[in-house]
Amino acid sequence: MRSLQRLVAAALATTQAAAAFEYNTFDGPGFPSCYNVSRVHDATSVADMAAVVKEVAAASSSSSSNSSAVGRVRAAGKGHMWYDTQCSDAWTVIVRTEQVAAISDFELAEGADQGTVWVEAGTTFFQLADYLHERGASVGYTLTNWNISFGGSVAMGAHRSSIREDSMVAAGVLAMDIIDGMGEVRRVVRDEGDDEWLAASTSLGLLGIIARVQLQVYPDTKVYAKQATLDEKDVLDGDIYGMIAPYATANLWWWPYKRKFHHRYYNPVPANSTPQEGFQNTFSVTELEAIAARTMLDSGKYLATSNMLAEEIFFGLWSKPNFREKTTNEEIEEWPVYGWNYDVLIGGLYPDQKAEWDYGLAGYTMELAFPMPLANKMLKRVRELFDDELKKGIIMTSTYRSGINIKFGKAYYDFLGQVTYNTTDGADWTKGAIMFDFPSFRPTIGDHKRFNEPFYHKVANTLIDEFPCRPHWTKNTREVFTRSVKNLDPNVSVPVRLTGVSLLTRCIMQHLRRFKAVRERFDPQGIYRNVIGEILGFY
Ligand SMILES: Cc1cc2nc3c(=O)[nH]c(=O)nc-3n(C[C@H](O)[C@H](O)[C@H](O)COP(=O)(O)OP(=O)(O)OC[C@H]3O[C@@H](n4cnc5c(N)ncnc54)[C@H](O)[C@@H]3O)c2cc1C
Ligand SMILES: *[C@@H]1O[C@H](CO)[C@@H](O)[C@H](O)[C@H]1NC(C)=O
Ligand SMILES: *[C@@H]1O[C@H](CO)[C@@H](O)[C@H](O)[C@H]1NC(C)=O
Ligand SMILES: *[C@@H]1O[C@H](CO)[C@@H](O)[C@H](O)[C@H]1NC(C)=O
Ligand SMILES: *[C@@H]1O[C@H](CO)[C@@H](O)[C@H](O)[C@H]1NC(C)=O
Ligand SMILES: *[C@@H]1O[C@H](CO)[C@@H](O)[C@H](O)[C@H]1NC(C)=O
Repeated sequence: MRSLQRLVAAALATTQAAAAFEYNTFDGPGFPSCYNVSRVHDATSVADMAAVVKEVAAASSSSSSNSSAVGRVRAAGKGHMWYDTQCSDAWTVIVRTEQVAAISDFELAEGADQGTVWVEAGTTFFQLADYLHERGASVGYTLTNWNISFGGSVAMGAHRSSIREDSMVAAGVLAMDIIDGMGEVRRVVRDEGDDEWLAASTSLGLLGIIARVQLQVYPDTKVYAKQATLDEKDVLDGDIYGMIAPYATANLWWWPYKRKFHHRYYNPVPANSTPQEGFQNTFSVTELEAIAARTMLDSGKYLATSNMLAEEIFFGLWSKPNFREKTTNEEIEEWPVYGWNYDVLIGGLYPDQKAEWDYGLAGYTMELAFPMPLANKMLKRVRELFDDELKKGIIMTSTYRSGINIKFGKAYYDFLGQVTYNTTDGADWTKGAIMFDFPSFRPTIGDHKRFNEPFYHKVANTLIDEFPCRPHWTKNTREVFTRSVKNLDPNVSVPVRLTGVSLLTRCIMQHLRRFKAVRERFDPQGIYRNVIGEILGFY
């Protein structure tokens, strides 16, 4: 019986490896997030997801201790990740959560200032925002863009931008159900004293498939959005903390060629104070705009002048409100803009337009978080790198429609989050973090490399080597993760006093070590293993 099982498992591994194919990010073919997928399972329920995991786990354990024959499973939400870091390179079954998206147990008592709701893994921010708005509620500021799943964003530590309010999606989670490596559903409840919670809070999907999460909700509010244009020096030498901390959410967009910043900020207003219902356009463009941008940016692969013109045009467009009145679809021309929480903070696509990537506009990106006290120093270092190119006669620009995105995060404690603290790097993360998110156009032509490609790698390497910093878990390449490991809770020797005289040095890698211990309990066979987990030394 045992040997039969082994035979079946081996045959399974062979046929599946033979038929393995690439699984793609939201950008589609040519943008793999996994290289070696044997099967994509469109899950229909939590029980169905658990059944698939049990199947793979059983096949794996029957192939004994041969780890290269162990089957792998990774959940997939909406594919809103950027690089080939979803899976490991061994054959993997993808479990898509899109149809596992029920919303239930909504509770917000009349007059209460908070309540709760349960959502299944595949529920998107957009779906929940609609559901909650109809019931006079919202998730507040722990959110991300619209077509992203709760499972995917909680797993990968996604966040909005705020110093004053919690803005990690996980910070709004009260409990979650995780399908572990044996296919059993385990409930983990928020508790800072529990290593299981601290690992589950940002798990990278390595503990298992997040099947459901319970979220904090609040009474719906209206908010305003305002934007100012600042000279670069006023930010580089300015009180950056003071520009962000007073607001419920705020960020900066940097135009390095123009030497300007946009400063965007939002705060709540009483719902009855304005009839306006502004709706933000996050990523939509008309076909004409898309073709014009693509033509200009493709020529920018060779000509700096095209990139300079592009930044000039994008800056001009981004200075105006990217909002319409929801009830009439009319452009809104003036700041501030008012509207309902989610419509103003995120919005979505205008009804007559498509997302930029649907017109073949794709990007590269690189996102790192730095301790808030180093904000000015970090931005000045980036300015210096731009200026070093200028000295060589090479003009570098932003090639993204909203410039370089500078975001912020309030400190939030868990093991692998970008804004956690009490790490061994000696940096002060308790004041929160500044995030440098450097998106750039990926030329549709030739080798797809950018104008002066080495510059982008130099920026990444310099920042990682010179600053304590942490990568966003879905917006970086394998190279960036590998180089960043040294900054993540580095090994330090701490003197431990024993009898009062003798000193012993003890090595601690607290967060990574504690995460690994939980990982081994949830998934002893490592069926959820992926390249990030490998780079972090969890296997
Ligand atoms: C246009 C765009 C806008 C974005 N905006 C933001 C933003 O505002 N803030 C921010 O922080 N990030 C942002 N991101 C990044 C995004 O939040 C993350 O990449 C997120 O993980 C994507 O979730 P998804 O549902 O698309 O999952 P996928 O891309 O399908 O999966 C991402 C990873 O999560 C794992 N995963 C997915 N579902 C589960 C689950 N149920 N259980 C366990 N693991 C799971 C996958 O295996 C994979 O490793 C943006 C990305 C794009 C493309
Ligand atoms: C482990 O399994 C793989 C794939 O099935 C096989 O190629 C390899 O020879 C096995 N190794 C051992 C040590 O059995
Ligand atoms: C959201 O993602 C799905 C694919 O999962 C896609 O079909 C749909 O068009 C997307 N919606 C928007 C508004 O982009
Ligand atoms: C795909 O996975 C199989 C089984 O784990 C492995 O033998 C093979 O080398 C992998 N292929 C690639 C291209 O990595
Ligand atoms: C952080 O470290 C300090 C000092 O060691 C300790 O008092 C505090 O409890 C720690 N905080 C967390 C959340 O672990
Ligand atoms: C940290 O120190 C331990 C014990 O000396 C060692 O085993 C481990 O490999 C080190 N890890 C790193 C990342 O240097």
